[in-house]
Amino acid sequence: MNITIVGTGYVGLVTGTTLAELGNTVYCVDIDAKKVERMKQGIVPIYEPGLEEMFLRNIQAQRLFFTTDIKEALEKSEVIYLALPTPPGEDGSADLSYVLSVANQIGEMITDYKVVVNKSTVPVGTADRVRETIATKTKIPFDVVSNPEFLREGFAVEDSMNPARVIVGSESEKAQEVMAKIYQPFTNIGIPIIFMDEKSSELTKYAANSFLAVKITFMNEIANYCEKVGADVDKVRLGMGSDDRIGHRFLFPGIGYGGSCFPKDVKALIKSGKQEGFDFQILEATEEVNQAQKVILVSEIEKYFKGDLKGKKIALWGLAFKANTDDIREASSLDNIKLLLEKGAEITAYDSIAEENVRHVLGDQISYAKDMYSTLENADCLLIATEWSEFKNPNFEMMAQRMNNKAIFDGRNMFALEQVEDKGFFYKSIGRKT
Ligand code: UGA
Repeated sequence: MNITIVGTGYVGLVTGTTLAELGNTVYCVDIDAKKVERMKQGIVPIYEPGLEEMFLRNIQAQRLFFTTDIKEALEKSEVIYLALPTPPGEDGSADLSYVLSVANQIGEMITDYKVVVNKSTVPVGTADRVRETIATKTKIPFDVVSNPEFLREGFAVEDSMNPARVIVGSESEKAQEVMAKIYQPFTNIGIPIIFMDEKSSELTKYAANSFLAVKITFMNEIANYCEKVGADVDKVRLGMGSDDRIGHRFLFPGIGYGGSCFPKDVKALIKSGKQEGFDFQILEATEEVNQAQKVILVSEIEKYFKGDLKGKKIALWGLAFKANTDDIREASSLDNIKLLLEKGAEITAYDSIAEENVRHVLGDQISYAKDMYSTLENADCLLIATEWSEFKNPNFEMMAQRMNNKAIFDGRNMFALEQVEDKGFFYKSIGRKT
């Protein structure tokens, strides 16, 4: 099948590459001419393990093309995926201006039947709005389908080639047939495709992300309570997770959830609810608890230094919102940096993948080290904000030699307690004994 993807951000690029890998001819459209030029030369604009290989393979096989010319791409394709940004507006609701402006263009340009597929995370009712927008411009038949994306950053290739399920929201039989054909390579290997109406499909995405945000936040509260009563969250987590109604995944406590999805989607669902006169009380509480959780270790650091952080040298390991990505959107590291700087601390950070993105935002407000051990030169303590693998089993002797003071505040529970305490470190993690 010939497919156009409009928008080559994270979701668009991964979706386009995956659909090419499944044997389709894919035209990726973006308004950013420089980015399109770079992609044509085989340069992947995002960091995602395994993506580059798949990207280059499909460019070489002439199944994956890049262009700024939306008209030309539309002419060649039967299916048009919209993978456009839906950033939160000032009030937290999703801004649909990019999606609707492309819908307008589609209405003006199409000359035969098309299936328009909404891949972006959009509020309930957006498929209707896209349909209405296109219909004001054309009499040519078309269908609008909601087909939300569930991939995780850092595992995008794995998740997109082997999704837990495919959700297709459309009541048009013709569109359902087209979508079933695109995803046949998945159904062939037993991955379910679940058909439903557009609104249920749109809500499924928000409900799934919000549920996971609640799950993590619940666990963070249990972890905080463990500290109060002297329980160990690792044990509680294992005990709870063994019930397969709960499951072991997404029960890892830490310094809060971040990223481009959970915070945005939780906010947007709260906002959509309000527009209908509906209060998502559980999500409002989740947001509030998460915001506090992100900086929970700052008060611990402050307590450790008896309330005075002026001139304290803090080494920071990890800047990305989670491991295996260079994404720093809503990263807990940034909240910690802001607060610690306000309190007069000095920060030296290390994250070889996300450093460049942080430099763009913070410039030289903090220093950057070339490796994890250099951050520790004369440091008064270490704060860990991202669970990169390279931090998992460090040389504690080498750390101790470099640090001015042997204290670790670990926002991602990277080490077993004995591992650090045997080496004489003060170690504060989340939900475990100090
Ligand atoms: C999330 C969802 O997991 C995907 O299914 C969804 O497609 C995606 O959003 C999206 O809407 O596009 P992602 O933002 O890449 O994916 O990140 P996750 O791996 O879900 O992690 C989100 C946050 O939760 C991170 O800050 C992570 O550190 C935190 N987390 C995750 C925990 O604190 N504890 C856990 O046990 C799991």
